[in-house]
Amino acid sequence: MKRLLVLAAAAATLFAANAQTFPGSKPITFVVPFAAGGPTDRVARDLAEAMRKSMGGGANFVVENVNGAGGTIGANKVAKAAPDGHTLLLHHIGMASAPSLYRKLQYKPLEDFEYLGMVNEVPMTLIGKPQLEAKNYRELETYIRANAGKLNIAHAGLGSASHLCGLMWQSAINATEAMTTIPFGGTAPAMNALVGGQVDMMCDQTTNTTGQIEAGRVKAYAVTTAKPLTGNKLLKDLPTLQQAGLKGFDLTIWHGLYAPKGTPPAVLAQINAALKKALKDPDFIKKQEGLGAVVVTDNRVEPAAHKAFVTAEINKLKPVIEAGGKFAD
Ligand code: MLT
Repeated sequence: MKRLLVLAAAAATLFAANAQTFPGSKPITFVVPFAAGGPTDRVARDLAEAMRKSMGGGANFVVENVNGAGGTIGANKVAKAAPDGHTLLLHHIGMASAPSLYRKLQYKPLEDFEYLGMVNEVPMTLIGKPQLEAKNYRELETYIRANAGKLNIAHAGLGSASHLCGLMWQSAINATEAMTTIPFGGTAPAMNALVGGQVDMMCDQTTNTTGQIEAGRVKAYAVTTAKPLTGNKLLKDLPTLQQAGLKGFDLTIWHGLYAPKGTPPAVLAQINAALKKALKDPDFIKKQEGLGAVVVTDNRVEPAAHKAFVTAEINKLKPVIEAGGKFAD
């Protein structure tokens, strides 16, 4: 018994020591599983700055873009990283869609990560290249049917939010065969191709599309949320896809923070505390709201609720993806 107590005391000291020394001089790396300049990257950079402040300015944050395979390469890198709190994953709904899209996923979303808390929720917008002839959503569907086989839609790879949205939308309008899908390393390069007219359409998060819509560099047709974005002066008049006739269409992208399984509890608690403080940072909130995102304020900022939410999302998306993108009626 005495030996057990000694061991327990040693472990507690070790954990406490980890917490006292974390983060130390080594930078905290946010792995972003998509190309720089895209919506996921944007959230990561804004959050890293807010967490640097919430940790007293002493911690050094680095954002590393590890794109490819719809975000699964970056996610796998963190799943296999040293569990010391210095390598974290900032990811989105792809944590929940990948298990249903990849037969051989190299990581288990619910077993290979420690859940640190959710960050925000972001609507998506259906957008087109400036030259696209359809002036509004009603004309768009007609145009797509009239040009079946001639149009394409860009996304950030199998498992990305833009892929999931495109899959669901094309399925809802029975245009899965009518449009070719074109993958990119992220929706930043995809947006460049859309603005340049090299691709025809994309469904992307407002954190990436707001500026382009405002500048008139792309055409906006609809939002993917169940309710119109009445609080957003730029997007408030865009119809939801439900208003456009797509029954039950409701897609909001969310972002969360993850560490490799086995990261010491004391370190996880420190990161979670810094995250919660950052989510209350007025500058961070203002930046996110300016891009149409809503910072999470409910209990999903706590690890257990974050994990329960992702578990529910995995179960919700599985039948949708297996049905080729159709929400179950
Ligand atoms: C996505 O479509 O999953 C993201 O927008 C990709 C990105 O952040 O570039």
